[in-house]
Amino acid sequence: MKVTLKVYRFNPETDKEPHYDTFNVEAEPTDRVLDCLNKIRWQQDTTLSFRMSCAHGICGSDGLTINSQSALACQKLVKDYDYTKKILIEPLRYFDVVKDLIVDFKPFFERIKSINPQETQSIAKDNIEKERNQTIKERSQFDDALKCILCGCCYGACPVMIGEDREFIGPAAILREQRYLFDSRIADAQERMQIMQKPHGVWGCKSYYKCTVVCPKNIKVTEAILKTKKKITQEQTK
Ligand code: SF4
Ligand code: FES
Repeated sequence: MKVTLKVYRFNPETDKEPHYDTFNVEAEPTDRVLDCLNKIRWQQDTTLSFRMSCAHGICGSDGLTINSQSALACQKLVKDYDYTKKILIEPLRYFDVVKDLIVDFKPFFERIKSINPQETQSIAKDNIEKERNQTIKERSQFDDALKCILCGCCYGACPVMIGEDREFIGPAAILREQRYLFDSRIADAQERMQIMQKPHGVWGCKSYYKCTVVCPKNIKVTEAILKTKKKITQEQTK
């Protein structure tokens, strides 16, 4: 069968404005959206630019906006959408477009890095050479956060990031901090909580739950953010 994709295009070297190109590709309902994009690039337009690597939901490089919702192109099948109509393929929202479907991830990784205190060591000095055991229960406090593949889909879906506060630190960065704040081995929790309380930090989250809906690893992102807020509040009222 033929599937029609309407694809966002923008080449900063030649285009003043973005536009959309429409492509018809031969595909099965069980083909992935990524397969369709590859067919376009291999068979119809070699200039179409998008990122991909593993094609199996591991590397997080092919986050896109598909029919107006963030998703990994390698995880979404044609049959996940109404393929009797055009499937709309756009870059991830929030980020600046580099070319076609490729966005600039610098602001994302800057935020991920910004959650770490500059002056302290995460592990206490007198504990650095020792084995640091954890119970299963202790480890379970941050297990979910470890599934994050840094795909940025949550940033493209977050109404705060795309509409209310572009400086907001964002779901994935808070999730990463939750991973440390709930790790029983960590020695710099106070510094980390201070970072989270800076302007545009954890309190910027308005619990829209959009990050949780789109997360391709099914991480309970909003819940992790709420846990982080609760921990900070408990610490303040001690
Ligand atoms: Fe992607 Fe989920 Fe991690 Fe956000 S929390 S970067 S959506 S894997
Ligand atoms: Fe690696 Fe989709 S290509 S997650």
